[in-house]
Amino acid sequence: MNTSSVITKYYESERLCRCGENKPNQTQLQTQRLSKLFLAFTFLCPSYNLAMQAWTIQKLLNWITEYLTERSIDSPRLSAELLLSGVLETKRIELYTQFDKPVDKRQLDKLHDLVKRAGQNEPVAYLIGKTEFYSLELNITADCMIPRPETELLVQRAIEFLRTRPGTQLVCDLCTGSGCIAVAIAKNFPDARIIATDICDAALNVAAGNVEKHQLKDRIKLLHGDLFDPIISGLDVGKFDLIVCNPPYVSAAEYEKLDKNVKDYEPKSALFAGADGLDIYRRLIEKVDEFLKPDAALMLEIGYAQGRAVRELLEQTGAFAEIKIEKDPHNNDRIATARRISS
Ligand SMILES: C[S@@+](CC[C@H](N)C(=O)[O-])C[C@H]1O[C@@H](n2cnc3c(N)ncnc32)[C@H](O)[C@@H]1O
Repeated sequence: MNTSSVITKYYESERLCRCGENKPNQTQLQTQRLSKLFLAFTFLCPSYNLAMQAWTIQKLLNWITEYLTERSIDSPRLSAELLLSGVLETKRIELYTQFDKPVDKRQLDKLHDLVKRAGQNEPVAYLIGKTEFYSLELNITADCMIPRPETELLVQRAIEFLRTRPGTQLVCDLCTGSGCIAVAIAKNFPDARIIATDICDAALNVAAGNVEKHQLKDRIKLLHGDLFDPIISGLDVGKFDLIVCNPPYVSAAEYEKLDKNVKDYEPKSALFAGADGLDIYRRLIEKVDEFLKPDAALMLEIGYAQGRAVRELLEQTGAFAEIKIEKDPHNNDRIATARRISS
């Protein structure tokens, strides 16, 4: 199979899966239902399944997609591909070059467990232990929040800002979690030296793994503690060119309404920030001035309707010459940028 036919197959299958095209007639529907029942039985009863039929990559991909679709799991085709490529330890695109390859018993057993758990809303990133952020592969465990695509906008703005400044740039990433922001900035801006802090030791272990994975140990230092507390002036860098932070910002009311796959699996300490969701911003903004160089910037990820409240908190400090609230592509408040006055 050549590359273009693989890619055509990849997109074609994605399109059919999403759009539900080629609608079948009643007889075809009945046959499909019976065959789905049989497949469900064989897949969920591993011993029978293994004895009786060979599961190829294509068959598995289709079946897992349907299984997850029926359970209203987000992006079922993508999830199926991630689960399968995770278990087979291969790239997603490579699944499409090996459609007819049978999957062996050991892998099938592992997949069987993961698919069931995905069907019960457990996030795929936790199941396969990795995710992609800013085009980088990162390790993930349930100790840290799964990096979100929205946060890539914060990274983009941070890199743009750093590129306007000459020489080595000192950056602080508060609430680093998996280390996604620090790693993405360091990978894309070689002159950055970064201190990243988090209150959760287990999350910092994940960050340490990611720093090592991307060979950034000489440029990212991880510290354990509450916001700026672990930074020891004199020993560590005292003042930064840029401080970035994606803190917990979910309010009490929002927390109750979170989707099951978030509320039941992601750490509450990574999400919840008091009655109005502003607790961490208040404490951070109160102290931030002493850690910023003149003309340095603070960049915060914020909740979809927190722009006004965060702007007010920043204005009250009197430390910033310029404050900007930026919306994301879904028209939600997303990034607050504040430029410290230059003297
Ligand atoms: C929303 S997650 C963000 C993780 C990561 N920066 C990202 O963008 O995916 C917030 C992180 O803040 C950490 N955290 C919560 N309270 C903190 C505090 N007071 N000081 C430092 N880190 C804190 C949590 O452990 C969690 O890892």
